[in-house]
Amino acid sequence: MTEEDTSGQVATIAGVAPRGPYHALRVARVIDETHDARSIVLEIPDALRSLFAYEAGQFLTFRFEIDGERLVRCYSLASCPSSEGEHKVTVKRIRDGRVSNWIHDTLAAGHYVEVMRPAGLFTLRSREHPIVLFGAGSGITPCISILKTALATTERRVRLFYANRDEASVIFGPELDHLAARYRERFEVVHRYDSVHGLTDEATVRACAGVDLAADFYVCGPAPFMDVVEKALRGLGVAREHVFIERFTAPATPATGVAESSRGAPASHEPGPRQGEAAVMLRVTLGGTTHEVACEPGQTVLAAVRRAGLEPPFACEEGYCGCCMARVREGDVTMKANDCLDRQQLAEGWVLTCQSLPRAGVLRIEWPD
Ligand SMILES: Cc1cc2nc3c(=O)[nH]c(=O)nc-3n(C[C@H](O)[C@H](O)[C@H](O)COP(=O)(O)OP(=O)(O)OC[C@H]3O[C@@H](n4cnc5c(N)ncnc54)[C@H](O)[C@@H]3O)c2cc1C
Ligand code: FES
Repeated sequence: MTEEDTSGQVATIAGVAPRGPYHALRVARVIDETHDARSIVLEIPDALRSLFAYEAGQFLTFRFEIDGERLVRCYSLASCPSSEGEHKVTVKRIRDGRVSNWIHDTLAAGHYVEVMRPAGLFTLRSREHPIVLFGAGSGITPCISILKTALATTERRVRLFYANRDEASVIFGPELDHLAARYRERFEVVHRYDSVHGLTDEATVRACAGVDLAADFYVCGPAPFMDVVEKALRGLGVAREHVFIERFTAPATPATGVAESSRGAPASHEPGPRQGEAAVMLRVTLGGTTHEVACEPGQTVLAAVRRAGLEPPFACEEGYCGCCMARVREGDVTMKANDCLDRQQLAEGWVLTCQSLPRAGVLRIEWPD
């Protein structure tokens, strides 16, 4: 993290100068939304406006240095790109969580944070059908961005099923009430409190899903909640391509193929290093510069590139956030898992570098600027 000094310059307080894909952004203000959820509003300088343009539902990747440890975390944008001029993320305090507690206890207006351009595939699709969102806890953040954008820019009907531990844990309560009153013809919020109604079950999800199974369904929340919603929607016969899932933590069952992938993208199994296998030469274009990097058998592209001292973007390292996407220009890879790229992106040559094992020969791979 960096902090503004008296001359208005960015002074590094943790010894990390902004570089690579990270940009130092000033925290304009913090908002305490509930007892354990805090929003951070970022100032985007004019020079970075187009780079930081985003789609509803996308997230930002932050890099922090806390107690000498460099930590990368993603936070979804809760603001609306079409009707709100600010970039706002909302962070829930996680028990023993290093970054979330630091954000709650230390981060303040005027501080600078290192942030990567928006990314993510959990976005509003341009269709005419209704939208049904299933959000729980901090999973509301990308959902509220999507619903505000759908209400502001389309005529689509929108329903939000929002589960929380109790009423005090509801984030954005007044904002949702206001939207429900303003768009009462086509927006509905269904609140559900574990303390009153019990945990969300499949019957509740089925009842809330509505009758239009061609609707777009968005799901974000703790893993057990998402499992229940996914199972119920599958049971109803909702097509996989109409269900969009954002994971904040690794899936309980890691994605290993079509059947496990939330976006229907194929992934093949890791072949593992074979005796006598040679390193593959990677030609890596990152930040506009090309480097030659050796990738040892069994090593992922991301690991090889980082080992060579480069700083490619990444976050989850488990194949579900999409932060580490790059495009293969020559050669081929095998992906160990893929829980976010769809068939079209795969056909265009996009891969998750954290999951990619290069096949023999030369691999030419390029990160987007
Ligand atoms: C694409 C994406 C978008 C995200 N958007 C948001 C967002 O909008 N708001 C938000 O608050 N978080 C969001 N997250 C989660 C966030 O990136 C961090 O994982 C979270 O803040 C915990 O980090 P930490 O350093 O505090 O915890 P850590 O120090 O990493 O973890 C401490 C302990 O908490 C557990 N843990 C980690 N994350 C969670 C979690 N989310 N829920 C429950 N237990 C957890 C770990 O298993 C560990 O035991 C998002 C994650 C992804 C991948
Ligand atoms: S770092 Fe998240 S998919 Fe690769």
